[in-house]
Amino acid sequence: MGLICYKCPILPVLTWQTPMAKSKLVFHCTACGSNLGKWAGQCPDCKSWNTVEEFRVAAGARRKVGFAGATASLVTPLSSVPSGDTQRVETGLAELDRVLGGGLVSGSVVLLGGDPGIGKSTLLLQAAARLSGNLKSLYVTGEESLQQIGLRARRLGVEREQLDCLTETSVEQILATVQKVQPQLLIVDSIQTLQSDDIDSAPGSVAQVRESAARLVRYAKTSGCSIVLVGHVTKEGALAGPRILEHMVDAVLYFESDSGSRYRIIRSFKNRFGTVNEIGVFAMTGKGLKQVSNPSAIFLSSRSTPTPGTIVTVTREGTRPMLLEIQALVDDSQLANPRRVSIGLEHNRLAMLLAVLHRHGGVSLSSQDVFLNVVGGLRISETGSDLAAVLAVVSSYRDLVLPEGLLAFGELGLSGELRPVYNGEERLKEAAVHGFKHAVIPAANAPRHDTGKLRVSAVDTLHDALQSVFT
Ligand code: TYD
Ligand code: MG
Repeated sequence: MGLICYKCPILPVLTWQTPMAKSKLVFHCTACGSNLGKWAGQCPDCKSWNTVEEFRVAAGARRKVGFAGATASLVTPLSSVPSGDTQRVETGLAELDRVLGGGLVSGSVVLLGGDPGIGKSTLLLQAAARLSGNLKSLYVTGEESLQQIGLRARRLGVEREQLDCLTETSVEQILATVQKVQPQLLIVDSIQTLQSDDIDSAPGSVAQVRESAARLVRYAKTSGCSIVLVGHVTKEGALAGPRILEHMVDAVLYFESDSGSRYRIIRSFKNRFGTVNEIGVFAMTGKGLKQVSNPSAIFLSSRSTPTPGTIVTVTREGTRPMLLEIQALVDDSQLANPRRVSIGLEHNRLAMLLAVLHRHGGVSLSSQDVFLNVVGGLRISETGSDLAAVLAVVSSYRDLVLPEGLLAFGELGLSGELRPVYNGEERLKEAAVHGFKHAVIPAANAPRHDTGKLRVSAVDTLHDALQSVFT
């Protein structure tokens, strides 16, 4: 309704406005998620520049000062907390169960991250369809239409009768639906597409992601419903959104792959209900993801004639040993600073191994480029592959083919000593199963039992290892 100014009656200047919902400005760092009182160029917590953004949120109840009005909560002695085992449900995909620590725990929240197109939606649809016979499951998608999910399910040839689907992005709507449907498993694809009406910023922003995740986590903990959230990753490979998301959930899984490879590795990064560093291996096929239960076989190259610079090692990823091939190429360098390139093994570790090789193995590579690669796009996160990496480098440098059926593992110390690795016997057993004939290992890992056809050279130093392989 317009009003006329009493001084100049021509202009209708005042207009009644319907009162706006009150909102306030808050500031969050998009890198670490910390709350700030005002805008700043640099986040005081994580020290990132230009990451602080302002968000408008609906003003909630007035903040209470002190603890007036609060009632004391009941405390429980730890001894009287029932110590029953956590309830787990197997997803039907053994490789996924392995990474989850034995199955999906009821009331837990799992965050699954991975590059676009790697197969997150495919994996979860396969798992949900298998589970839907035992668990009432709801698949919520904010990214695709129901037709697209239907088409994918048909392509995967999965059971579709008992799996409920919903396309929705509003957290309030999703929570209202789950209160009604009461699913035991809720899949949300993806957390970055969700938005809450209480927060006045775009979906995918820090405040939205945090608020949406917090509400879903609260629901999981109060209802016992297991929730799997799909999370996007940034260009740097970290989960998009605030780091705080990783603290809020019970498990963080990453889906990884070497570009161009059909193999997919799912790795546990954090797990409150199982061990970390466990991996599950899948292969993407025309009919969805197939489990690879014997990964050792696929990570060995299928070439029949051995070439210089190639050796096999046994690493232990999580609870199982795995055979891996390490390749090295040593070539005359044209550069003042020769190149050291390492894919799958930490860069600094390669530099250290080359220094140890120089001092204690008498092999100087100061005018050589050194390239090292772990076949199959795997990343080695333990030190047990040190000896194999050094042997591959020497083999390439001297252009000597390592004998067929040779395998090596062991950690190299700075004084040239070979240090033992854990689960040595189990690694030797895996090598014997795959028909290896000779293993060079640290003396402290010498087997106490007969290893059958596998001949074992247990050596103390790098010097001894080079002697036993190259003479
Ligand atoms: P998708 O699960 O949509 O990936 P994300 O959710 O992680 O973005 O997977 C999509 C890719 O997988 C796509 O490039 C096609 C491929 N794909 C197959 O090769 N075989 C299949 O059976 C399916 C369903 C997908
Ligand atoms: Mg997807």
